[in-house]
Amino acid sequence: MSSMLFARLTVVGRPASRFGAVKATSSYSTSAISRNGAASGSPIKQARTLPDFSMEGKVCLVTGAARGLGYEFCRAFLASGCTKLAVVDLKQSEAEDAAKELVATSCLNSDMGPSDFDVIGLECDVSSERSVIKAFGETVSKFGRVDSVVASAGIVENYSAFDYPFDRIKRLYDINVHGAFFTAREAARNMIPHGGGSITLVASMSANIVNIPQPQTPYNASKAAVKHMAASLAVEWAKKGVRVNALSPGYMLTKLTKTVLSHDQELKKTWESLTPMGRMGEPEDLAGAIVFLASDASRFMTGTEIRVDGGYCII
Ligand SMILES: NC(=O)c1ccc[n+]([C@@H]2O[C@H](COP(=O)([O-])OP(=O)(O)OC[C@H]3O[C@@H](n4cnc5c(N)ncnc54)[C@H](O)[C@@H]3O)[C@@H](O)[C@H]2O)c1
Repeated sequence: MSSMLFARLTVVGRPASRFGAVKATSSYSTSAISRNGAASGSPIKQARTLPDFSMEGKVCLVTGAARGLGYEFCRAFLASGCTKLAVVDLKQSEAEDAAKELVATSCLNSDMGPSDFDVIGLECDVSSERSVIKAFGETVSKFGRVDSVVASAGIVENYSAFDYPFDRIKRLYDINVHGAFFTAREAARNMIPHGGGSITLVASMSANIVNIPQPQTPYNASKAAVKHMAASLAVEWAKKGVRVNALSPGYMLTKLTKTVLSHDQELKKTWESLTPMGRMGEPEDLAGAIVFLASDASRFMTGTEIRVDGGYCII
Protein backbone atom coordinates (compact mmCIF):
# COMPACT_ATOMS: atom_id res chain seq x y z
CA MET A 1 0.00 0.00 0.00
CA SER A 2 1.70 3.20 -1.10
CA SER A 3 1.83 6.25 1.13
CA MET A 4 0.32 8.20 -1.77
CA LEU A 5 -2.79 6.06 -1.63
CA PHE A 6 -3.06 6.63 2.11
CA ALA A 7 -2.79 10.38 1.55
CA ARG A 8 -5.51 10.40 -1.10
CA LEU A 9 -8.13 8.62 0.96
CA THR A 10 -10.98 10.31 2.69
CA VAL A 11 -11.66 8.28 5.78
CA VAL A 12 -15.29 7.65 6.55
CA GLY A 13 -16.76 5.22 9.02
CA ARG A 14 -15.11 2.24 10.64
CA PRO A 15 -11.43 1.59 11.37
CA ALA A 16 -11.31 -0.94 8.51
CA SER A 17 -11.75 1.99 6.15
CA ARG A 18 -8.15 3.12 6.38
CA PHE A 19 -7.34 1.52 3.05
CA GLY A 20 -8.58 1.84 -0.52
CA ALA A 21 -12.23 2.17 -1.37
CA VAL A 22 -14.40 -0.54 -2.85
CA LYS A 23 -18.13 -0.51 -3.39
CA ALA A 24 -19.91 -2.82 -0.99
CA THR A 25 -22.52 -4.57 -3.05
CA SER A 26 -24.51 -6.16 -0.29
CA SER A 27 -24.99 -6.00 3.44
CA TYR A 28 -23.86 -8.74 5.75
CA SER A 29 -26.19 -9.56 8.61
CA THR A 30 -28.22 -7.84 11.23
CA SER A 31 -25.86 -9.11 13.92
CA ALA A 32 -22.97 -7.57 11.98
CA ILE A 33 -24.86 -4.30 11.85
CA SER A 34 -25.39 -4.12 15.58
CA ARG A 35 -21.79 -5.12 16.26
CA ASN A 36 -20.67 -2.23 14.09
CA GLY A 37 -22.84 0.12 16.08
CA ALA A 38 -25.22 1.12 13.29
CA ALA A 39 -28.88 1.56 14.12
CA SER A 40 -30.76 -1.70 13.72
CA GLY A 41 -32.70 -1.87 10.46
CA SER A 42 -31.01 1.16 8.90
CA PRO A 43 -29.39 0.74 5.49
CA ILE A 44 -25.70 -0.10 5.61
CA LYS A 45 -23.48 2.65 4.26
CA GLN A 46 -21.03 1.69 1.55
CA ALA A 47 -18.11 0.03 3.30
CA ARG A 48 -14.61 1.13 2.43
CA THR A 49 -11.98 -1.51 2.56
CA LEU A 50 -8.85 -2.71 0.82
CA PRO A 51 -9.95 -3.39 -2.79
CA ASP A 52 -8.06 -6.69 -2.90
CA PHE A 53 -10.55 -8.14 -0.43
CA SER A 54 -13.40 -7.62 -2.87
CA MET A 55 -15.02 -10.73 -4.34
CA GLU A 56 -16.68 -8.65 -7.03
CA GLY A 57 -16.55 -10.39 -10.41
CA LYS A 58 -15.40 -13.68 -8.93
CA VAL A 59 -17.28 -16.91 -9.57
CA CYS A 60 -17.35 -18.97 -6.38
CA LEU A 61 -18.25 -22.56 -5.54
CA VAL A 62 -18.62 -23.89 -2.00
CA THR A 63 -19.24 -27.54 -1.07
CA GLY A 64 -21.20 -28.47 2.05
CA ALA A 65 -22.87 -25.10 1.63
CA ALA A 66 -26.50 -25.84 2.50
CA ARG A 67 -25.75 -25.16 6.16
CA GLY A 68 -23.05 -24.63 8.75
CA LEU A 69 -19.69 -23.16 7.86
CA GLY A 70 -20.15 -23.65 4.12
CA TYR A 71 -23.32 -21.56 4.21
CA GLU A 72 -21.50 -18.88 6.15
CA PHE A 73 -18.66 -18.84 3.60
CA CYS A 74 -21.27 -18.20 0.90
CA ARG A 75 -22.75 -15.36 2.92
CA ALA A 76 -19.32 -13.82 3.37
CA PHE A 77 -18.61 -13.99 -0.38
CA LEU A 78 -21.94 -12.38 -1.29
CA ALA A 79 -21.37 -9.67 1.32
CA SER A 80 -17.98 -9.00 -0.24
CA GLY A 81 -19.24 -8.39 -3.76
CA CYS A 82 -19.58 -11.87 -5.28
CA THR A 83 -22.77 -12.24 -7.34
CA LYS A 84 -22.13 -15.57 -9.09
CA LEU A 85 -22.07 -18.52 -6.75
CA ALA A 86 -22.67 -22.28 -6.75
CA VAL A 87 -24.06 -23.67 -3.49
CA VAL A 88 -23.16 -27.35 -3.51
CA ASP A 89 -24.54 -29.97 -1.11
CA LEU A 90 -25.84 -33.53 -0.91
CA LYS A 91 -29.49 -32.80 -1.70
CA GLN A 92 -30.70 -30.68 -4.60
CA SER A 93 -33.65 -29.27 -2.64
CA GLU A 94 -31.46 -28.21 0.30
CA ALA A 95 -28.86 -26.65 -1.97
CA GLU A 96 -31.58 -24.72 -3.83
CA ASP A 97 -33.29 -23.59 -0.61
CA ALA A 98 -29.97 -22.36 0.72
CA ALA A 99 -29.27 -20.54 -2.55
CA LYS A 100 -32.63 -18.74 -2.33
CA GLU A 101 -32.14 -17.86 1.32
CA LEU A 102 -28.65 -16.53 0.63
CA VAL A 103 -29.97 -14.20 -2.04
CA ALA A 104 -32.80 -12.99 0.20
CA THR A 105 -30.37 -12.31 3.07
CA SER A 106 -27.97 -10.54 0.77
CA CYS A 107 -30.73 -8.23 -0.46
CA LEU A 108 -31.71 -7.22 3.10
CA ASN A 109 -30.55 -3.75 3.97
CA SER A 110 -28.79 -3.35 0.65
CA ASP A 111 -29.55 -1.56 -2.57
CA MET A 112 -29.42 -4.82 -4.53
CA GLY A 113 -32.32 -6.98 -5.63
CA PRO A 114 -32.63 -10.71 -6.32
CA SER A 115 -31.96 -10.17 -10.03
CA ASP A 116 -28.52 -8.78 -9.17
CA PHE A 117 -27.46 -12.23 -7.95
CA ASP A 118 -26.92 -15.46 -9.82
CA VAL A 119 -26.78 -18.08 -7.07
CA ILE A 120 -27.43 -21.70 -8.01
CA GLY A 121 -27.96 -24.77 -5.83
CA LEU A 122 -26.33 -27.98 -7.02
CA GLU A 123 -26.61 -31.53 -5.78
CA CYS A 124 -23.30 -33.28 -5.31
CA ASP A 125 -21.83 -36.02 -3.18
CA VAL A 126 -18.19 -35.02 -2.84
CA SER A 127 -17.16 -38.60 -2.11
CA SER A 128 -18.02 -39.46 -5.73
CA GLU A 129 -15.58 -38.07 -8.28
CA ARG A 130 -18.24 -38.33 -10.96
CA SER A 131 -20.63 -36.23 -8.93
CA VAL A 132 -17.95 -33.58 -8.31
CA ILE A 133 -17.07 -33.42 -12.01
CA LYS A 134 -20.77 -32.95 -12.79
CA ALA A 135 -21.16 -30.09 -10.29
CA PHE A 136 -18.13 -28.27 -11.70
CA GLY A 137 -19.37 -28.91 -15.25
CA GLU A 138 -22.72 -27.31 -14.42
CA THR A 139 -21.05 -24.37 -12.71
CA VAL A 140 -18.68 -23.67 -15.57
CA SER A 141 -21.36 -24.06 -18.22
CA LYS A 142 -23.51 -21.55 -16.32
CA PHE A 143 -20.83 -18.99 -15.37
CA GLY A 144 -18.03 -19.68 -17.85
CA ARG A 145 -15.35 -20.30 -15.21
CA VAL A 146 -14.73 -20.68 -11.50
CA ASP A 147 -12.34 -18.48 -9.52
CA SER A 148 -12.65 -19.34 -5.82
CA VAL A 149 -13.55 -22.73 -4.44
CA VAL A 150 -14.04 -23.84 -0.86
CA ALA A 151 -14.17 -27.53 0.11
CA SER A 152 -16.22 -27.40 3.29
CA ALA A 153 -18.23 -30.66 3.07
CA GLY A 154 -17.18 -32.90 5.93
CA ILE A 155 -18.41 -35.09 8.75
CA VAL A 156 -17.28 -36.02 12.25
CA GLU A 157 -18.07 -39.06 14.40
CA ASN A 158 -17.01 -39.97 17.89
CA TYR A 159 -16.13 -43.62 18.40
CA SER A 160 -13.19 -45.02 20.31
CA ALA A 161 -10.71 -46.72 17.99
CA PHE A 162 -11.71 -50.23 19.10
CA ASP A 163 -15.41 -49.54 18.54
CA TYR A 164 -15.29 -47.67 15.23
CA PRO A 165 -16.93 -49.79 12.48
CA PHE A 166 -14.63 -49.92 9.48
CA ASP A 167 -17.34 -49.07 6.95
CA ARG A 168 -17.94 -45.81 8.83
CA ILE A 169 -14.23 -45.00 8.96
CA LYS A 170 -14.03 -45.57 5.23
CA ARG A 171 -17.05 -43.32 4.62
CA LEU A 172 -15.48 -40.56 6.72
CA TYR A 173 -12.26 -40.68 4.69
CA ASP A 174 -14.25 -40.84 1.45
CA ILE A 175 -15.97 -37.55 2.33
CA ASN A 176 -13.33 -35.65 4.31
CA VAL A 177 -10.19 -36.67 2.42
CA HIS A 178 -11.15 -37.94 -1.02
CA GLY A 179 -13.99 -35.42 -1.26
CA ALA A 180 -11.54 -32.57 -0.63
CA PHE A 181 -9.14 -34.04 -3.20
CA PHE A 182 -11.80 -34.46 -5.90
CA THR A 183 -13.04 -30.92 -5.26
CA ALA A 184 -9.55 -29.42 -5.40
CA ARG A 185 -8.55 -31.38 -8.50
CA GLU A 186 -11.69 -30.43 -10.42
CA ALA A 187 -11.33 -26.82 -9.30
CA ALA A 188 -7.74 -26.66 -10.56
CA ARG A 189 -8.64 -28.35 -13.85
CA ASN A 190 -11.20 -25.64 -14.49
CA MET A 191 -9.11 -22.75 -13.15
CA ILE A 192 -5.83 -23.36 -14.99
CA PRO A 193 -7.16 -22.59 -18.51
CA HIS A 194 -8.38 -19.22 -17.14
CA GLY A 195 -5.10 -18.27 -15.44
CA GLY A 196 -5.70 -19.74 -11.99
CA GLY A 197 -7.72 -19.20 -8.86
CA SER A 198 -7.93 -19.86 -5.16
CA ILE A 199 -8.83 -23.12 -3.45
CA THR A 200 -9.45 -23.33 0.29
CA LEU A 201 -9.68 -26.72 1.93
CA VAL A 202 -11.46 -26.67 5.27
CA ALA A 203 -9.27 -28.66 7.64
CA SER A 204 -9.57 -28.23 11.42
CA MET A 205 -7.53 -27.46 14.50
CA SER A 206 -7.77 -31.26 14.85
CA ALA A 207 -5.11 -31.41 12.13
CA ASN A 208 -2.71 -30.10 14.77
CA ILE A 209 -3.98 -31.27 18.15
CA VAL A 210 -5.82 -34.25 19.62
CA ASN A 211 -9.27 -33.26 20.83
CA ILE A 212 -10.30 -34.32 24.31
CA PRO A 213 -12.30 -35.86 25.89
CA GLN A 214 -14.19 -37.25 22.86
CA PRO A 215 -12.39 -39.90 20.81
CA GLN A 216 -12.19 -39.14 17.06
CA THR A 217 -8.97 -40.57 15.69
CA PRO A 218 -10.08 -41.03 12.05
CA TYR A 219 -11.49 -37.47 11.94
CA ASN A 220 -8.27 -35.99 13.35
CA ALA A 221 -6.19 -38.01 10.88
CA SER A 222 -8.50 -36.97 8.02
CA LYS A 223 -8.00 -33.29 8.83
CA ALA A 224 -4.22 -33.69 9.13
CA ALA A 225 -4.41 -35.23 5.65
CA VAL A 226 -6.44 -32.29 4.34
CA LYS A 227 -3.96 -29.78 5.75
CA HIS A 228 -1.01 -31.54 4.10
CA MET A 229 -3.04 -32.05 0.92
CA ALA A 230 -3.40 -28.27 0.66
CA ALA A 231 0.36 -27.82 1.02
CA SER A 232 1.15 -30.59 -1.48
CA LEU A 233 -1.31 -29.40 -4.13
CA ALA A 234 -0.07 -25.85 -3.60
CA VAL A 235 3.40 -26.95 -4.67
CA GLU A 236 2.07 -28.87 -7.70
CA TRP A 237 0.01 -25.94 -8.99
CA ALA A 238 1.93 -22.87 -7.76
CA LYS A 239 3.31 -21.97 -11.18
CA LYS A 240 -0.08 -22.49 -12.83
CA GLY A 241 -1.70 -19.67 -10.83
CA VAL A 242 -3.73 -21.94 -8.56
CA ARG A 243 -3.29 -21.26 -4.85
CA VAL A 244 -4.33 -23.87 -2.30
CA ASN A 245 -4.62 -23.07 1.40
CA ALA A 246 -6.20 -24.68 4.44
CA LEU A 247 -8.58 -23.01 6.86
CA SER A 248 -8.63 -24.71 10.26
CA PRO A 249 -11.47 -23.75 12.58
CA GLY A 250 -11.60 -24.53 16.27
CA TYR A 251 -14.88 -25.51 17.94
CA MET A 252 -17.64 -23.73 16.04
CA LEU A 253 -21.36 -23.79 16.78
CA THR A 254 -22.91 -25.61 13.80
CA LYS A 255 -25.12 -28.65 13.29
CA LEU A 256 -21.96 -30.77 13.25
CA THR A 257 -20.99 -29.83 16.83
CA LYS A 258 -24.57 -29.41 18.05
CA THR A 259 -25.18 -33.08 17.21
CA VAL A 260 -22.18 -34.08 19.32
CA LEU A 261 -23.22 -31.72 22.14
CA SER A 262 -26.82 -32.98 22.14
CA HIS A 263 -25.59 -36.17 23.80
CA ASP A 264 -23.48 -34.38 26.41
CA GLN A 265 -24.31 -30.86 27.63
CA GLU A 266 -21.22 -30.74 29.89
CA LEU A 267 -18.98 -31.15 26.87
CA LYS A 268 -19.57 -27.56 25.73
CA LYS A 269 -18.23 -26.26 29.05
CA THR A 270 -15.18 -28.52 28.73
CA TRP A 271 -14.48 -27.27 25.19
CA GLU A 272 -14.89 -23.66 26.30
CA SER A 273 -12.57 -24.14 29.26
CA LEU A 274 -9.92 -25.57 26.91
CA THR A 275 -10.20 -22.56 24.59
CA PRO A 276 -8.21 -19.50 25.76
CA MET A 277 -10.92 -17.13 24.51
CA GLY A 278 -13.41 -19.07 26.65
CA ARG A 279 -16.10 -19.63 24.04
CA MET A 280 -16.99 -21.61 20.95
CA GLY A 281 -16.78 -19.78 17.65
CA GLU A 282 -19.78 -18.55 15.68
CA PRO A 283 -19.66 -19.45 11.97
CA GLU A 284 -19.36 -15.77 11.07
CA ASP A 285 -16.09 -15.60 13.02
CA LEU A 286 -14.58 -17.27 9.93
CA ALA A 287 -15.86 -14.68 7.45
CA GLY A 288 -12.73 -12.53 7.41
CA ALA A 289 -10.38 -15.47 7.02
CA ILE A 290 -12.32 -17.09 4.18
CA VAL A 291 -12.62 -13.86 2.21
CA PHE A 292 -8.91 -13.23 2.73
CA LEU A 293 -7.98 -16.68 1.41
CA ALA A 294 -10.44 -16.62 -1.49
CA SER A 295 -9.66 -13.09 -2.65
CA ASP A 296 -6.64 -11.41 -4.20
CA ALA A 297 -5.72 -10.11 -0.74
CA SER A 298 -3.85 -13.38 -0.19
CA ARG A 299 -2.35 -13.54 -3.70
CA PHE A 300 1.20 -14.42 -2.51
CA MET A 301 -0.05 -17.05 -0.07
CA THR A 302 -0.22 -20.71 -0.94
CA GLY A 303 0.22 -23.96 0.97
CA THR A 304 -0.45 -22.31 4.31
CA GLU A 305 -2.92 -22.99 7.08
CA ILE A 306 -4.91 -20.31 8.87
CA ARG A 307 -6.16 -21.40 12.26
CA VAL A 308 -9.22 -19.62 13.65
CA ASP A 309 -9.67 -21.36 16.98
CA GLY A 310 -9.91 -18.82 19.80
CA GLY A 311 -6.32 -19.72 20.70
CA TYR A 312 -6.97 -23.45 21.28
CA CYS A 313 -3.80 -24.67 19.60
CA ILE A 314 -1.40 -22.33 21.38
CA ILE A 315 -1.69 -23.86 24.85
N1 LIG B 1 -18.11 -27.05 13.31
C1 LIG B 1 -16.89 -27.16 13.77
O1 LIG B 1 -16.64 -27.02 14.98
C2 LIG B 1 -15.74 -27.47 12.86
C3 LIG B 1 -14.45 -27.34 13.36
C4 LIG B 1 -13.38 -27.62 12.54
C5 LIG B 1 -13.59 -28.02 11.24
N2 LIG B 1 -14.86 -28.15 10.79
C6 LIG B 1 -15.01 -28.59 9.41
O2 LIG B 1 -15.79 -27.64 8.71
C7 LIG B 1 -16.50 -28.29 7.66
C8 LIG B 1 -17.97 -27.90 7.76
O3 LIG B 1 -18.47 -28.33 9.02
P1 LIG B 1 -19.84 -27.78 9.60
O4 LIG B 1 -19.64 -27.54 11.03
O5 LIG B 1 -20.35 -26.71 8.72
O6 LIG B 1 -20.74 -29.09 9.44
P2 LIG B 1 -22.31 -29.21 9.15
O7 LIG B 1 -22.62 -30.63 9.48
O8 LIG B 1 -23.07 -28.14 9.82
O9 LIG B 1 -22.41 -28.98 7.57
C9 LIG B 1 -21.75 -29.83 6.69
C10 LIG B 1 -22.43 -29.78 5.34
O10 LIG B 1 -21.74 -30.70 4.48
C11 LIG B 1 -22.71 -31.46 3.77
N3 LIG B 1 -22.16 -32.75 3.39
C12 LIG B 1 -21.89 -33.83 4.18
N4 LIG B 1 -21.45 -34.85 3.44
C13 LIG B 1 -21.43 -34.42 2.16
C14 LIG B 1 -21.08 -35.03 0.94
N5 LIG B 1 -20.68 -36.30 0.89
N6 LIG B 1 -21.16 -34.30 -0.19
C15 LIG B 1 -21.59 -33.02 -0.15
N7 LIG B 1 -21.94 -32.40 0.98
C16 LIG B 1 -21.87 -33.09 2.12
C17 LIG B 1 -23.89 -31.60 4.73
O11 LIG B 1 -25.08 -31.94 4.04
C18 LIG B 1 -23.90 -30.23 5.38
O12 LIG B 1 -24.69 -29.31 4.67
C19 LIG B 1 -16.25 -29.79 7.83
O13 LIG B 1 -15.25 -30.17 6.92
C20 LIG B 1 -15.75 -29.91 9.25
O14 LIG B 1 -14.92 -31.01 9.45
C21 LIG B 1 -15.95 -27.89 11.55
